Amino acid sequence: MSPEFTDQLSQFHTIIEPFRIHSVEEIAITDRTQREAALERVRYNLFGLHADEVTIDLLTDSGTGAMSSKQWAGMMLGDESYAGSRSFYKFKAAVEDLTGMSEVIPTHQGRAAERILFTETVSAGDVVPNNTHFDTTRANVEYQKAEALDIVCEEGLDPDSTHPFKGDVDLSRLEQILDDPDVPVPLAMVTVTNNSGGGQPVSMANLRAVSEVCSSHGVPFFLDACRFAENSWFIKTREDGYTDRTPLEIAREMFSLADGCTFSAKKDGLANIGGFLAMRDPELAERCRNLLILTEGFPTYGGLAGYDLEAIAQGLSEVVDEDYLRYRIRSTAYLAEKVNKAGVPTVQPPGGHAVYIDARKLLPHIPPSQYPAQALAVEIYRTGGVRGVEIGSVMFGKVAGDGSESVAPMELVRLAIPRRTYTQSHIDYVAEVVIDAASRGPYIPGYRIVEQAPWLRHFTAAFEPIPA
Ligand code: F0G
Repeated sequence: MSPEFTDQLSQFHTIIEPFRIHSVEEIAITDRTQREAALERVRYNLFGLHADEVTIDLLTDSGTGAMSSKQWAGMMLGDESYAGSRSFYKFKAAVEDLTGMSEVIPTHQGRAAERILFTETVSAGDVVPNNTHFDTTRANVEYQKAEALDIVCEEGLDPDSTHPFKGDVDLSRLEQILDDPDVPVPLAMVTVTNNSGGGQPVSMANLRAVSEVCSSHGVPFFLDACRFAENSWFIKTREDGYTDRTPLEIAREMFSLADGCTFSAKKDGLANIGGFLAMRDPELAERCRNLLILTEGFPTYGGLAGYDLEAIAQGLSEVVDEDYLRYRIRSTAYLAEKVNKAGVPTVQPPGGHAVYIDARKLLPHIPPSQYPAQALAVEIYRTGGVRGVEIGSVMFGKVAGDGSESVAPMELVRLAIPRRTYTQSHIDYVAEVVIDAASRGPYIPGYRIVEQAPWLRHFTAAFEPIPA
């Protein structure tokens, strides 16, 4: 072979899955009558479906990925000692190597890290800025009777903007908030990538600026680092000066700018469960560990089995692999491009872990108060057994004391792609189903909520269609 053909990736255009299948799991094939009956039973809330009623499950990319043979092998090495487990020290070394943070506190998932961090740092009346809080992050801030303030840049709220870093924080708003002596800010956060804002990345330049503004105001800066590897790939491919850096080097630089982070290992930990809270401040860490013992477990397992810690340690090294990240980001863009070609509007550019359909644009006849994204998610399931999730006014709308309701800035259906789980033909099928559902746009009805919980209502709310 001549030297110019030794690099497979530049010789061929097809970006193949950089793995082969080692173990398979059957998926449900359903008919429309079954799906219709299921929708009525769950009162149009897709969280209520049994997994056996779903053909392609794009509800979330969280904990739904396929682990590698090395991760499964690692699980056999799990040390289940209550205290001082070998697996904990392997996990801690992996997290420290990545983040440079020496205080590593394992938790059963991301939201447990959030609850512990906010219980120790946030008080009633405080304001916590973030590019966009994820739903559990917002709920955990609000549970402390504090305000979760979203300050993503302007482009981040425009689904059509093709700005390369739509997850960036609006720096002038951040400065304005931190300059105001009447606004108590116990910490600032940045979510990479910005899940609730379309899975959009945050640039290194923005992270650096946030870090500088925070440190000049004496405010700790924490990353919500769930999808740090995907964010690193976007920096590598979109930001000047990073092309020749490895995703791991970029990730390390991102973490070096923060005082701490919360992390759900169910995303870029490539594990089915787990998370951590990491930081540099030993005094705060001590307080967090004391709280950890109360609800999660001893600090060397934090609610996880030793084998989970092994799987995460291995996952953190696999997730920064360039071939994996190239395939990962490309396969998400592939789905977006396919549906866009057929006229289905999605947030541009496609996010790292998910494609976000712009339901407000697709279903202009349904006002936000009748939940267009919920309506579309239901129709996509009805059409082909594909389950996505509403990220709009069901998730983020707020009911006031007088019963009136605020609406979300965007009405999106998120199709989240589990890591290393579905093949290109599964994704081709999803595109066909979405395009078919979208073709019935004007006939899709809006919905009303007939039952809801006081917070995180989207998980359990019951709906009914509003007859046209
Ligand atoms: N932060 C972000 C940005 C998230 O996307 C999630 C979870 C969490 C925190 C909480 O982590 O689930 O381990 O407790 N996101 C999932 C999703 C559930 O579907 O996007 P967790």
